[in-house]
Amino acid sequence: MFKKLTITALTALTLGAGSAQAAGGGGHVTDFDFPFEGPFGTYDQAQLQRGLQVFTEICSACHGLELLPFRALSEPGGPALSEQAMREYAASWEVFDEEIDDWRPAKPVDYFPAGTYPGAPDLTVMAKARSGFHGPNGLGLNQLFKGIGGPEYIATYLLSFSDETKEEAGTFYYYNEVFPDNWSAMAPAIYGDDVDYADGTEATAEQVAQDVAAFLMWSAEPKLMQRKQAGFISIGILLALTVLLYFTNKRLWAPYKPKKEI
Ligand code: HEC
Repeated sequence: MFKKLTITALTALTLGAGSAQAAGGGGHVTDFDFPFEGPFGTYDQAQLQRGLQVFTEICSACHGLELLPFRALSEPGGPALSEQAMREYAASWEVFDEEIDDWRPAKPVDYFPAGTYPGAPDLTVMAKARSGFHGPNGLGLNQLFKGIGGPEYIATYLLSFSDETKEEAGTFYYYNEVFPDNWSAMAPAIYGDDVDYADGTEATAEQVAQDVAAFLMWSAEPKLMQRKQAGFISIGILLALTVLLYFTNKRLWAPYKPKKEI
């Protein structure tokens, strides 16, 4: 039985590694080290703020974040802007209000608007959509064993454009090494020095790509840290319960167990 299981697991592993190549555009997804990885990983507040800046200044020209309310930006565990900064940030966006049938500055309860560029997908949960079993790494085993998932894919995707383009039926496509079938309708968006970071971090292409990928991981999974904490608490409770049960068991059976002869 055990042998059979081992063989199945090994086959799955080999298949998983193989399809990591086949499932994506053939390119290699870089295993970036994000601070939120692993059981003790947490979001880096400064990185999320930089990612928000990248999204605002570059990606939002085309992409939306329709599932993310502005108020989330000031919640603990995320970019954690001050209440004041979050209100000012929200007010810098315009949303369409059906009640007054007009555009007005956004309030904290509003959601980020939809993207405007044709074919540009909403990015709120993109980091989850591209992770795990339907992700760029085939069976998701790479995610399990190496922690390669959605954010790694997004950062690599942003850095994997070449100069090649082609035109088909009036649409331009740009060559990208990790995009499925290699031709993306998105033009390269990151070259390095794309933003002037407020916190003075040098805006290399890799830095910008990782920051925005981390921000998109947070938008897809804002409660990641709370979830990990809840996990630790339950493991603690289960451990305590195990110890208690062990001693209860000993106690209950003690009268019936023969004493060992010395
Ligand atoms: C000029 C408009 C434009 C800009 C700016 C832009 N994108 Fe895109 N993006 C697109 C379009 C269009 C697609 C759809 C590509 C396709 O399906 O061929 C896309 C697709 C994507 C995808 C999905 C890739 C996949 O595997 O399906 C991600 C992730 C993404 N963009 C992230 C970003 C990020 C992050 C930024 C900012 C740094 C950004 N984009 C800036 C237009 C844009």
